[in-house]
Amino acid sequence: MRAEANTIFSVRSRRGQRGFGLVNSFLLSGAAVLLVWGGLYVGKYGGRFDGDEYSEIPHGRPAKVVAGSEDPNAKVLKLGARVFQNCAACHQADGNGDPSKNVPPLAGSDWVLTESPNRIIRIVLNGLGGPITVKGTPFNGGAMNPWRKTADNPSGLTVEEIAAVLSYARNTWGNKAGIISVDQVSAIAKETEKRTDPWTPDELLKVPLTGGATASAALTPDQLKAALKAMPADALDALLKDVKK
Ligand code: HEC
Repeated sequence: MRAEANTIFSVRSRRGQRGFGLVNSFLLSGAAVLLVWGGLYVGKYGGRFDGDEYSEIPHGRPAKVVAGSEDPNAKVLKLGARVFQNCAACHQADGNGDPSKNVPPLAGSDWVLTESPNRIIRIVLNGLGGPITVKGTPFNGGAMNPWRKTADNPSGLTVEEIAAVLSYARNTWGNKAGIISVDQVSAIAKETEKRTDPWTPDELLKVPLTGGATASAALTPDQLKAALKAMPADALDALLKDVKK
């Protein structure tokens, strides 16, 4: 390396051009300054002009691992399966209920599969009694106990457990319906916290299936008219079109 450099300089100096060494060192130091400036410039303003920009492990951080076992729904359904042991005594592990004891099925039940959770959350919180039709079959004389956790019912279920067991019932035995969130259960638990009686199916059929957790407060015709009048004309048109569909 050194010998090589010496050769270059010695060849040039042997030519006897006195000024050449000076110019050469000017050029050299100029180039060096440019190089350093360029390096600093790219370092400062080069954005992600990094050697490992396209590496899967940027800056030595491991790439985020997306594992199937971390699926939050799988976790909920696992908890739901455990909680369902409380329900299986009546509704049976296969979800088919026990018609000889007036216990209706959860498998294929329209009550379970209805997309809005407004009614089934109420059933589990407060219990149910009274004539009910499930999958076209009438059941009469059965009673389901309440599962709301209170001072009087300390062995009840938490809102997390109720969300999980209902999500499980909606996605087992061939059932397929949306996962029920803890927020949905909490909202309805709050809305019905003063209620101690079990529901009757007739009462529940009046609970609207729209509007999330806000159920029982129906508008009077006058209130509805006022609300519609307050809407911008194009929004009202869109709403009417949607309702008529
Ligand atoms: C003591 C027995 C018993 C237990 C325990 C029980 N249920 Fe019920 N359940 C019933 C009966 C009986 C009915 C029907 C009530 C009626 O006739 O009005 C019913 C109705 C229902 C319904 C609505 C009708 C249908 O078949 O879809 C749902 C949903 C339901 N139960 C879910 C549950 C869940 C979830 C659990 C566990 C947290 C549970 N039940 C625990 C007896 C029980």
